[in-house]
Amino acid sequence: MRIYILFVLTVCFLNIGKGYVMQKECHKNCKCAIRRSKKRQAVCRGRDLHYIPQFPEMILSVIMSGTNLTNIDKNGFKNLTYIRLKELTLDNNLITFIHEDAFINLKYLDSLSIVQETNLAVNVIKVSVGKMETRNLRSLYFKNNNWLFLPVDMFTSFSYSEIRTIGIYGNSLSELQSATFSPLKKLQKLYMNKNEIEHIDLKGISKDLVDLRLNENLLPKVPELCTKDRRGISLVNKLHTLDLSDNNIGDIRVQAFQCLPNLKKLLLNRIPMKRIRSNIFASLPVLYSLQLSKIGFPLQKIDDYAFNSSTLSRLLMDVANFHFDREEFNPQTIFSLSPNLSFLNLDHNFFPKNETKMQQILSPLVRLKNLIISSTSLFILPKNVFPYLKSLENLTLSSNRLSDWNDGSQIFRNMTSLRNLNLKDNFIKIINKNTFPAAVLKSLKVLDLSYNSFVCTCDQLWFTEWIKSTKVKLLSYPTLYKCRSPPSLDGTLLQKYVNSSKECPLWNPIYTTVIILLLSATVLAVIFAIIMKCQTNIKNYLYLWRINYNRRRGYLPLQDADDFEYHAFVVYCDADRQWVHQKFLKKLEQDEGMKLCIHHRDFEIGESITANINNYLEKSWKVVVILSNDFAKSEWCQWEVDVVQERRRRQGRDVFLLIMLKNIDSKHMTNQLRALLDSASSLKYPMGVGEELFWTAAVETLRKPLGHPPTALL
Ligand SMILES: *[C@@H]1O[C@H](CO)[C@@H](O)[C@H](O)[C@H]1NC(C)=O
Ligand SMILES: *[C@@H]1O[C@H](CO)[C@@H](O)[C@H](O)[C@H]1NC(C)=O
Ligand SMILES: *[C@@H]1O[C@H](CO)[C@@H](O)[C@H](O)[C@H]1NC(C)=O
Ligand SMILES: *[C@@H]1O[C@H](CO)[C@@H](O)[C@H](O)[C@H]1NC(C)=O
Ligand SMILES: *[C@@H]1O[C@H](CO)[C@@H](O)[C@H](O)[C@H]1NC(C)=O
Ligand SMILES: *[C@@H]1O[C@H](CO)[C@@H](O)[C@H](O)[C@H]1NC(C)=O
Repeated sequence: MRIYILFVLTVCFLNIGKGYVMQKECHKNCKCAIRRSKKRQAVCRGRDLHYIPQFPEMILSVIMSGTNLTNIDKNGFKNLTYIRLKELTLDNNLITFIHEDAFINLKYLDSLSIVQETNLAVNVIKVSVGKMETRNLRSLYFKNNNWLFLPVDMFTSFSYSEIRTIGIYGNSLSELQSATFSPLKKLQKLYMNKNEIEHIDLKGISKDLVDLRLNENLLPKVPELCTKDRRGISLVNKLHTLDLSDNNIGDIRVQAFQCLPNLKKLLLNRIPMKRIRSNIFASLPVLYSLQLSKIGFPLQKIDDYAFNSSTLSRLLMDVANFHFDREEFNPQTIFSLSPNLSFLNLDHNFFPKNETKMQQILSPLVRLKNLIISSTSLFILPKNVFPYLKSLENLTLSSNRLSDWNDGSQIFRNMTSLRNLNLKDNFIKIINKNTFPAAVLKSLKVLDLSYNSFVCTCDQLWFTEWIKSTKVKLLSYPTLYKCRSPPSLDGTLLQKYVNSSKECPLWNPIYTTVIILLLSATVLAVIFAIIMKCQTNIKNYLYLWRINYNRRRGYLPLQDADDFEYHAFVVYCDADRQWVHQKFLKKLEQDEGMKLCIHHRDFEIGESITANINNYLEKSWKVVVILSNDFAKSEWCQWEVDVVQERRRRQGRDVFLLIMLKNIDSKHMTNQLRALLDSASSLKYPMGVGEELFWTAAVETLRKPLGHPPTALL
């Protein structure tokens, strides 16, 4: 026993790819084996084989394929009676005749298939098959035999049989009469696909029929499913699956599916129906799955409540090329009465561009688990659609025109039931932390982003780091993830970029730009503030520079101050006395050794002020005017200005040293003062910084010789 198991295991490993686990010796044209499906099967091939050979006892299933059996006489199946044959397939064996008693002794036969025996007349088969022992027979298949008709009495001898399945596909039958199948009282499955049937009468068909396949025929309408009498009861009460795909059905009446109380699966793929009428599936009380792939070519109209069905769970309407943007289409009713839908395939249609419409179409589908909207010309992801689909587990958005989005936290919010997200073949360039919410990435199991146009620069940093650490299965990575830009990396694997030790700034270049701009602005502001602060000094410096410059250029003829008693006459107002006495005199008389005329100190008592002024002005070489607001306010000082202006007219502007001790407000500015200020440049007195420069400039001005009548402007 042990050895046997070991043998089986060894054989099993040796032949693992060939579909069988153990082979046994048999005829040279045949292969006898226990298949992996546990079938104990013999397959014989070759035109040189003219008989059915003997098989090992264990064989239960025989396939004769492509041999040359031509004539099967009375004993033609003799060798099959030595085994407990359950399945026999005769496929393309050039059979022209089978003796009527040939099948008689195949007592255990459960399933007979006659395939591609185009030389064998249907009436010959009718006779021989009709004589079969039917105790165990369950299935009869006649496939691709080029039959043009099916005799009405084809199955008359099976009245007491237990036959469950009849398959007559790939023939050229055009009409089926109700009496043909009526003897088969226990028939459950009838496969009549791939014929040329234009009409089928189901009257009298087995009450047990559960599966009816009429696909690939020429039916112009849904067959009559109710009795014609007034009771209108169902002819196929137990029918579970009905396949009417690939027929000529151009329209379906609202009552067409009325007598199908147990129908769960309805297939209407590729029928030329251009319009889905209102409530046509509403009469199917237990409908579960509906297939409408490629209908209409293209589908043009979907009426209100077309999918009214409280039980519908799976709907395929792919490749219908339906424009959901059509004006007469009502997005609010299409699925509003399909609450149990859990699988929806709308692949290859034209989804609405409008987000609200999209929301209206999909938001009732709170039980949807699988949604396929690939190739639907989507170019934006709606913000308010997916969060309504609370049960969504698999979402396929492949082959659309989606490019980057930055509001993933909106689009995919609350989608923590999502396990599978397919975004293959779009135009996504960059995946970053805003593409999907963290909670979604946490619950996701599989993500497909293959065939997108990835950018392989530092902008991709988040994604490349995520790839290295994530537990999400990135489908088809790395082979189908390629860089599209920069041009130098076009076509290379994204993985190569992920692997490369790239140097990326820790933050976004935008931040850098912002910081540089802010810094520049600050620097400019500081420079501006400094300029404002030092304006006076700069002016004074320029003043001094011009004096020195002009002197070096020889524009200023030298002239002595020695002829005068005083170096300068100082005009100032009383309010500024303190500064004049304590600072100005101290600096110029003590430090510089000049002699200045100050009315407080030098004027002769008893003389009138005007006389004094005239007198002392004559004795002074130059005139110093200390200007300030108080000066401007004083009428007396204004008068003095007039007097000194006279000196300027005679001796030129060099005679003046104007010192702006404090700025003069515009409201105090008089015409005289303005004229004075216009006639000569003034020195501004700064406190602290720049004071040294001021004094130098003041001293230089006072020492500067007088130019010959009015010098050019400095
Ligand atoms: C039965 O098989 C043997 C060889 O396996 C063959 O010689 C013989 O002709 C077969 N008999 C019939 C009736 O086909
Ligand atoms: C099949 O066998 C018959 C005779 O039994 C022969 O005439 C015919 O040529 C054979 N056909 C082929 C294709 O071998
Ligand atoms: C939906 O179908 C049911 C029958 O299943 C029907 O009673 C109801 O009126 C239909 N609803 C609409 C809006 O047509
Ligand atoms: C809805 O579908 C689920 C399975 O998807 C099923 O168990 C349930 O009975 C259905 N509800 C209705 C009303 O048909
Ligand atoms: C998202 O989930 C939160 C908490 O579970 C809930 O308050 C909110 O209403 C949900 N939003 C949507 C659109 O379902
Ligand atoms: C990237 O690195 C992984 C493991 O470190 C390696 O298996 C893979 O071949 C590398 N791919 C490329 C394109 O360099």
